[in-house]
Amino acid sequence: MTTPPETIVVGRREEAEADLAREIAALVREKPRVVLGLATGDTTAGLYRELARLRREEDLDFGRVVTFNLDEYLGLAPEHPGAFARWTRERVFEPLGISEGSRHVPSWGAAADSASWTISERCRAYEESLREAGGIDLQILGIGRNGHIAFNEPPTPRESRTREVRLHAWTREDAARVFGSLGEVPTRAITIGIGTILEARRIRVLAFGSRKAGIVARALEGPVGPEVPASFLRGHPDLRIWLDREAARELDSARPAPRS
Ligand code: GLP
Repeated sequence: MTTPPETIVVGRREEAEADLAREIAALVREKPRVVLGLATGDTTAGLYRELARLRREEDLDFGRVVTFNLDEYLGLAPEHPGAFARWTRERVFEPLGISEGSRHVPSWGAAADSASWTISERCRAYEESLREAGGIDLQILGIGRNGHIAFNEPPTPRESRTREVRLHAWTREDAARVFGSLGEVPTRAITIGIGTILEARRIRVLAFGSRKAGIVARALEGPVGPEVPASFLRGHPDLRIWLDREAARELDSARPAPRS
């Protein structure tokens, strides 16, 4: 039997962002070297803005925090406008003051000379750095329209680890806006696996807007399996999911009870 996830439906996404930011702030104060797993994408941008506000206005110190990004496109320079490395530098590393040696992005490998490493060497090194850091204390996650978490596209087995993947057509379509055209979107990426994500001590998920309603219902109420990678989260012992009303509207629990 899977553990039912704790799902919170909010009226405005800012409530979810403030809730999760407060939880992260408490964790950082309790354990300054906390290890955070970072998601990129529109869904999480407001959370990072709220954390940056707490840094400015409440002296929250991220100076010893260690971060691991979930995924990265292959074949992009770190400063390419579509690269997650750049996205996180602009929205997380610099606004929060994450120190340079504490930032981890899958495609970087682990050493200064890692540009010459093969992709599988980088993947192994990423898992190794994660272990050395003591594992992820809190993983921040969004959900892709096809049910992916990180770049674990359907079908992905539960035991998957950090590896190279081919991107799903919908994922590339959704990224086309950022890259200018579909043809510019890379076809391959490095992602941490479902197995890697499930080892995080806490998993915190955000999903907003009607575009996510169908996949949220399948992930939370449909069969658990590789066709909806996000469904595997339901087996995690410390999971919390925030939805706005639009993202929650196809859940059985959101439907009016049938009249007898
Ligand atoms: C992206 C990332 C995921 C992210 C998801 C949702 O491609 N690989 O980590 O959670 O897709 O993105 P968005 O928040 O922009 O909807």
